[in-house]
Amino acid sequence: MLYWSANSTHKNHEFFPEPEKFDPSRFEGNGPAPYTFVPFGGGPHMCPGKEYARLEILVFMHHLVRRFKWEKIIPDEQIVFNPMPSPAKGLPIRIYPHKV
Ligand code: HEM
Repeated sequence: MLYWSANSTHKNHEFFPEPEKFDPSRFEGNGPAPYTFVPFGGGPHMCPGKEYARLEILVFMHHLVRRFKWEKIIPDEQIVFNPMPSPAKGLPIRIYPHKV
């Protein structure tokens, strides 16, 4: 039996210096080494919804950021690992439309 979690490579300083830092440039050029950044798995059972999910998240984030200000309702919400990291209470937020 082998247990693996994405966190074991995604947060590995050897592959991703300052892993907590928002730094999209780390994906430029050749990007990360193979099988180090695998949010959608890898190999023959890799997620077939990958490109759809990426596009949907991109569109959602675009509208959220362009149209609204938002704040966390629980500022210090805990992250739980079950087995993937996620906000314990589902990251409730309050949104306000930008003034036009
Ligand atoms: C952010 C969104 C998503 C994430 C992070 C995600 C992640 C994953 C991961 C890690 C796997 C396992 C891959 C492996 O075993 O190597 C998987 C499998 C799968 N995903 Fe996704 N997924 C997402 C969205 C979607 C969507 C939108 C669909 C369908 C419309 C989808 C359909 C599937 C299917 C059918 C499998 C099983 C593939 C197989 O066993 O051959 N996923 N996904």
